[in-house]
Formats: sequence, structure tokens, C-alpha cells
Amino acid sequence: MVEIKPVDIIPNHSLDSLNTMALPARAEYFCRVVSLGDIQQALAFVRDRQLCITLMGGGSNIILAGDLPGLVIQVALSGVNIESHGENAVWVTAGAGEVWHDFVISMLDKKYYGLENLSLIPGLIGAAPVQNIGAYGVELSDCFIALDAIEIATGEAVHFSRQDCQFAYRHSIFKDEPRDAYLITSVTLELQCLPSVEIRYPGLRTALEARLFNQDESGITPELVCETVCDIRREKLPDPELAPNVGSFFKNPLLSRAQADRLADQHEGLVMYEQGDGQVKIPAAWLIERAGWKGVNVGTCGVHSQHALVLTHSGAARGSDILLLANQIVADIKQRFNIELEMEPRVIGNL
Ligand code: EPU
Repeated sequence: MVEIKPVDIIPNHSLDSLNTMALPARAEYFCRVVSLGDIQQALAFVRDRQLCITLMGGGSNIILAGDLPGLVIQVALSGVNIESHGENAVWVTAGAGEVWHDFVISMLDKKYYGLENLSLIPGLIGAAPVQNIGAYGVELSDCFIALDAIEIATGEAVHFSRQDCQFAYRHSIFKDEPRDAYLITSVTLELQCLPSVEIRYPGLRTALEARLFNQDESGITPELVCETVCDIRREKLPDPELAPNVGSFFKNPLLSRAQADRLADQHEGLVMYEQGDGQVKIPAAWLIERAGWKGVNVGTCGVHSQHALVLTHSGAARGSDILLLANQIVADIKQRFNIELEMEPRVIGNL
């Protein structure tokens, strides 16, 4: 008979070291699930006591506004399974608790390509589809096949195809209300066996050109793209160990062509990314820097001096302090540019 190990549910657990913004907060109850059995036990605990659930991955895209009632579940399911798919592709299924960047590197080591541009994004595999992670011209949805999840309300297994997920820029069905309706257990991606690179993103292109020293573009391998992306990110985005942060704090606003043209007439040097669907994406970092916020501190919090889209703090801030600064920036950008910035990380916990 297989012995079932009871999942460890800890009352009044500190989340301080489990969020990269290093904000202080406690969970009424906390558990780390490593198997489907653990998940069912955690769901039974919640059902018996009529508690709410909050799901957590690597804690790299949340702002803890205060303590969390109910049970906080940290998903830590591991394992990677690779299957051939046709002659030149593989379908890779990874447990939701695998660390995203380690997974990217292990795929590259095995010569499976497609994830290089997404190197060094913090967090776990299970969180990647929630906000459709993206960087340097590639989004997760580009190689996404499907995911498996457990429906929290029923405890039943549910399969989501790419279409079911309704991916958009930093968005999926999992960001819609009610949040935490599904616990993602694994994600399946299609990777390519033949090397090819996506190098159209201006910042990536410039960095690659600087490395090539006039050699032609055939020297650009997926491995070089990975190295270059890692270098750009290390240079621009602060290490959370040194400066607590959640990466980009705001989404890049999408404007209509007419709105963007009007803005460009009023503000010289406006950077614009054509979306191909009549919309234009404007870097929020450009707006924030132009408004004079880059490197500015307000109390214990501030806008990072290296990248205007990164908010950080001295180590002593609470969630409310960060949100106060964020609100000031939103109001200022609205007033100056008539653009409503939208926060990227999720705010959770009682203020
Ligand atoms: N810029 C400034 N000031 C700054 C930084 C940037 O004016 O301090 C302007 C520059 O014109 C620059 C442009 O903004 O060319 C774009 O900057 P960057 O390439 O750093 O990208 P981003 O638009 O700020 C987005 C993602 C990042 C992703 C990068 C690269 C969002 C919200 N952010 O940032 O994602 O790594 O592109 O693709 O879409 C994240 O989501 O946490 C994240 C880091």
C-alpha cells in the first residue's frame, strides 16, 4: 500500500522572503504542494473550513498589500517530459513549479529552440501563461500548445488549449475574475529542433550588431540570442536580491494610430511600436522618464535609476508605500499625456 504523506499546512506563515518585491505580509495558512495528492488535500482543508485560496508561484509578479486571509498555496510540481512532434519539433510538458529560466537553459542545452528571447524572466513555469510572459519580440503564446489545471471549486482536472487561454499582450483568461479559479499543474510548449532566431526587437538587434563586429547575420545563433538577452536584462533590470522589484511595474499602453500620431506631434522623440493591427504600443518607461520620474525617490520607495519601468524600495517599505508611488505616477502620466497607465503585477492582500 502506498502511504499518503499529509501535506504540511502552516498557520500564520511569513511571505516576506517569498515575494521579489520583499514586502512584509503573512498568510493565515500556507502550504507548498508538490503533487496532485497534495493539491487535493489542500482543497479539502479549505472546503472543511470554508477558506479562500490564493495561488503563488515564484512571487515575482505580485504586490502584497497586506496579510492574506485563507490558504496561500505555493505550487511546486516538478518534472519535464519531451515528445517528438513531427520531424523538426518537440512537445515539452513541464511541471508548474519548474523555474522558468532554468527550463529555458535546459531546453537550449538539449538543442530545442524557441525560448531564447524569454531568457532570465523570473518566476515559475505555471505563472508564465497567466500573464503570457513576453520579451524581445516573443511571447509565450507563440509556442504554447496547452496546459493542465485543477479547478479549485470542484477539484477536477481541466485541459486548456491555446485558444481556451485567450492570450493577449500580458493577458490570458487566468487574469480575468474570479482570480485563482484554476491551479495550473503543467504547461506544454512546442519547441523547434532546427535553430532559428527572432531578432526584430530594436534593443536586441542593436545589442547583437554590437557583438557581431561587421560579420554577417548568419553568426547569430539561438545561443547568442540567449546570452545577449541575459546581458541586456542584467544591465537594465536590477537583481531583486539587491533592489526589490517585480520587473515592469506598468504595461506598455496600446494607442490607436490617431492617438499615437497626436502624441508624437506634441512630444518629440516618442518611441512607438507598430502592432500590425492598427494599434501602436508606447513604452511606459519613455513616458515615465519624460515626466521626470526616473531615479526619483518618494519616502522609502523610488523609480529605479537604470530603468524607468522598475519601482523599488530601500527594504523598509510596505505594499501601501509602493502603491502610493504607483498612484502618483499614474496620475502624473494621465495629466501630462492623457494616458492611463495600467499596473502589470497583481495586487493581493488586505491593505
Ligand atoms: N525607455 C526609456 N527609459 C527607460 C527605459 C526604457 O525611455 O528608463 C524606452 C526606450 O525608448 C526603450 C523603450 O523604452 O527603447 C523600451 O524599453 P525596453 O526595451 O527596456 O522595454 P520595455 O518596453 O520597458 C518591455 C517589457 C519587459 C521586457 C522588455 C523587452 C512590458 C510591460 N515590459 O519593457 O518585460 O523585458 O519589453 O522586451 O511589456 C516584465 O514584464 O516584467 C518585463 C521586464
